[in-house]
Amino acid sequence: MKVHFIGAGPGAADLLTLRGRDHIHNSPVCLYAGSLVPTEILAHAPANARIVNTAEMNLDQIIAEMARAHQENLDVARIHSGDLSIWSTMGEQIRRLDQLEIAYDITPGVPSFAAAAAALGRELTIPSVAQSVILTRTSTRSTPMPPGEDLASLGRTGATLAIHLSITNVDLVTSQLMPVYGADCPVAVVFRASWPDERILRATLSTLEEVVSEAGIDRNALILVGKCLDESSSGESFLYSIARDRSS
Ligand SMILES: C[S@@+](CC[C@H](N)C(=O)[O-])C[C@H]1O[C@@H](n2cnc3c(N)ncnc32)[C@H](O)[C@@H]1O
Repeated sequence: MKVHFIGAGPGAADLLTLRGRDHIHNSPVCLYAGSLVPTEILAHAPANARIVNTAEMNLDQIIAEMARAHQENLDVARIHSGDLSIWSTMGEQIRRLDQLEIAYDITPGVPSFAAAAAALGRELTIPSVAQSVILTRTSTRSTPMPPGEDLASLGRTGATLAIHLSITNVDLVTSQLMPVYGADCPVAVVFRASWPDERILRATLSTLEEVVSEAGIDRNALILVGKCLDESSSGESFLYSIARDRSS
């Protein structure tokens, strides 16, 4: 018996990996993390599977479901949105499984920042413009940022920022980033990347608050900030350069 942690991808059902699909298909118990996991993905579960939405459950209740499946020797597909390496709550679950000596494995998924970049048709790294991408978020009352990870500090790197969980915090995004990136720095907001109702908003740091407020978006959106979003940013890689010596 195993608990299979599966990253379901950003939304589109065909962005699930083949390995993830097979684990879901072969697991009699399926625990999924609420509405960010599309129903088409749950449809891979076997016909008689026990399918549980964990959105309103606490950690103890989720682990109890896994322990019950363990007692019955039933594999569990544990499905989270996007990839499991960022903001998935997988860490606290596997610590409990380790204590209970319940085996698990991990199948990565397409993260939302990659789906957002695809929707924008942009690379987030452009030679001589931006060579780093920072995946981050802003503070909330329940989850403060650790010292040194505020946007103003991260922004000093000049990296492309992919800001999660922050669409209701755009005032903080603009106030912290404008002094470092400048008012004209391009910003893109991608709402529900890869879902049928995906939306893209374009702004600058100075217009972001107004653009988001007019669009009425208050959840499931990623804010991308950086010079790489400027259509005129056009550095080319050394990999395919005609100047590169290919003789050896
Ligand atoms: C709890 S985090 C989950 C992140 C996820 N593990 C990942 O790999 O992207 C939820 C946040 O991710 C972002 N997000 C998740 N899915 C998204 C999507 N399809 N489009 C845009 N942003 C998304 C939003 O910022 C949202 O507030």
